[in-house]
Amino acid sequence: MLVSATEMLKKAKAGHYAVGQFNINNLEWTKSILQTAQELNSPVILGVSEGAGKYMCGYKTIVGMVNGMIEEMGITVPVALHLDHGSYDHCYKCIEAGFSSVMFDGSHYSIEENVAKTKELVAAAHAKGLSIEAEVGSIGGEEDGVVGAGECADPDECKSIADLGVDMLAAGIGNIHGKYPANWAGLSFETLDAIQQKTGEMPLVLHGGTGIPEDMIKKAISLGVAKINVNTECQLSFAAATRKYVEAGKDLEGKGFDPRKLLAPGAEAIKATVKEKMELFGSVGKAN
Ligand code: 13P
Repeated sequence: MLVSATEMLKKAKAGHYAVGQFNINNLEWTKSILQTAQELNSPVILGVSEGAGKYMCGYKTIVGMVNGMIEEMGITVPVALHLDHGSYDHCYKCIEAGFSSVMFDGSHYSIEENVAKTKELVAAAHAKGLSIEAEVGSIGGEEDGVVGAGECADPDECKSIADLGVDMLAAGIGNIHGKYPANWAGLSFETLDAIQQKTGEMPLVLHGGTGIPEDMIKKAISLGVAKINVNTECQLSFAAATRKYVEAGKDLEGKGFDPRKLLAPGAEAIKATVKEKMELFGSVGKAN
């Protein structure tokens, strides 16, 4: 059964580790992530961007697939199904469709409008037992064609959004989606520290988990990050393994063209990436 992210993140923040949010794109992706979480006895959050939602034929299709997998695969670790960077309308769609968690990304609105919309969505999500993430300070890089410049959130604005009763808060601390450029300045721990001091127990979310060096990940967790989002890294490992299979001519041998064979190396590669992240984030063995 799907659960909201509230409990798992409270435990993570108190236990000084982070739960990974791994974005899903199709059945293979979802299966690999769930299998790895179960094998490692780790809680997990499946992230769905609006673009991936459309690609997978809508939120109801995804809810059906994930619920079916949890049952058929005998998944017993806590799993949350979470809308990633949701707009106002899509948060409502996911609340209706059976997601267990949503993110409302109001970071591009004025702080007043972000507060008003977040407040309304907190009530709507909580009424149906879902957890809700809000965002302050836009996170740079490109996601689904939306390009934002990385910025550092204002700790006072973080507090005003945290006080609305959200269950987790994403705050820009110089992080960006996708690969980091060679001249990236790194995470602003000064900003993160100031945000944690203002928001106390609130589990903080680190977006753009791909390519952040291990020591920075560990430091971020020590300063209150309890959820880390990873997307591009699974895409890169899937693509590299698939490329290797095709370049070795394996699709031309026997029934190597069968999609169940063609996509298998990529699915295995995602498992390895998810395992590596769960070990780094410290969520292994934390399912109960
Ligand atoms: P990356 O694609 O950089 O791993 O970021 C994922 C993310 O933050 C999803 O919201």
